[in-house]
Amino acid sequence: MDYFEYRNGELFCEDVPVKAVARRVGTPFYLYSHGTFERHFRIFDGAFGETPHMVCYSLKANPNGALLRTVAKLDGGADIVSGGELYRALEAGIPAKRIVYSGVGKSAEDLRYAIDAGIRMINIESEGELTALKKLSRKMKKRVPVSIRVNPEIDPKTHPYITTGLKKNKFGVLWGEAVRLYREIAAEEYLAPVGISSHIGSQILELGPFIEAVTSLRTMILELKGQGIAVEMLDIGGGLGITYKDEVPPDPAEYARVVRENLGDMGVTLVLEPGRVIVGNSGIFVTKMLYVKVTAGKTFYIVDGAMNDLVRPSLYNAYHKILPVEEHTGKTVVVDLVGPICESGDFFAKDRELADLKEGDLLAVRGAGAYGFAMSSNYNSRRRTAEVLVRGGEFFVVRRRESLKDLTRGESIPHFLEV
Ligand code: LLP
Repeated sequence: MDYFEYRNGELFCEDVPVKAVARRVGTPFYLYSHGTFERHFRIFDGAFGETPHMVCYSLKANPNGALLRTVAKLDGGADIVSGGELYRALEAGIPAKRIVYSGVGKSAEDLRYAIDAGIRMINIESEGELTALKKLSRKMKKRVPVSIRVNPEIDPKTHPYITTGLKKNKFGVLWGEAVRLYREIAAEEYLAPVGISSHIGSQILELGPFIEAVTSLRTMILELKGQGIAVEMLDIGGGLGITYKDEVPPDPAEYARVVRENLGDMGVTLVLEPGRVIVGNSGIFVTKMLYVKVTAGKTFYIVDGAMNDLVRPSLYNAYHKILPVEEHTGKTVVVDLVGPICESGDFFAKDRELADLKEGDLLAVRGAGAYGFAMSSNYNSRRRTAEVLVRGGEFFVVRRRESLKDLTRGESIPHFLEV
């Protein structure tokens, strides 16, 4: 459930008409509902009840500071994959002790930053990374809590680009090798083997792959215990899917039930890393129709938003619902909804039945809260959009639209080109 709905034929986000925001900030922009975000977080967190757990919101889905501050206020934690995300999480007031760090290619600089900050756990993903961590911890003489991200070899049945738990993927360590690495960690003066972690993919729509994953994690914990290594944290990653079109994902309560059933008695603290399920349907992308272009046998709605703002349709052929901000009941047309970028891959929808709209009309792309702004770029020297947060009847610009100057910030001209 979310707080975007038509009232008297007009799209609202909570108690704010989307049109009012467009008038104030211009288009395109991202619009987030604070109430929806908070609700999703609470439901997810609440589903784990009394089982010791930490909900570490996955920053990569949407790292806007206002949302992170909301996570901090709800006593949530953070799942990070870079020094940049660590910086954002700490800035937002998320305590280091609630931050876990995954990623296949952590640099020495980022590792040092994480060790210095004293985060809860570093999930290593290769032997090379373990070697780097050994060196750093000895040099820094600081205890580092380590977990190994294991590759459970499970097919999550999702898009290949966001599948991570298969043998052929670059992520994690196979179990046989992991056991050997745990022994090495235990033998190090400054490293502590505190956890096991795994993440099998994203936008997962069935419980089956999760059940397989938690069952094998259970076996792994027991096997490690048998070897005298008792982990205290079990990180099962993120990945719970959402409805973009007509998918029916498991709800957080069912997901939590299978996790608790299989792992609740293991005496570990569960770490959850949800991203999309919290923020995906908490946000829309609002764009304005520039031109209706009719060519031989085809109608294009050309809008002012583009693939640099929201790349999911272009990159994954992802489906996003598209709604006119003013409700239409009459005639519909089959169109391609495209942006101004000089690539045919720049589209939000193809052959989609949409309302019969005219220039200047506003459109809302739904399900844009996760991996929307986070994946945006300046391609075609387009300024990144504004982000706006609604709470009740008020709205707040939580990131201003970039200026032209922002585009060249950081560049410099070598002396031989100076005029
Ligand atoms: N934990 C780890 C280690 C991850 O790699 C990810 C996502 C998550 C948690 C959060 O997953 P979520 O709950 O959001 O599914 N750009 C793609 C999604 C990439 C997901 C990458 N990893 C998209 O737009 O669909």
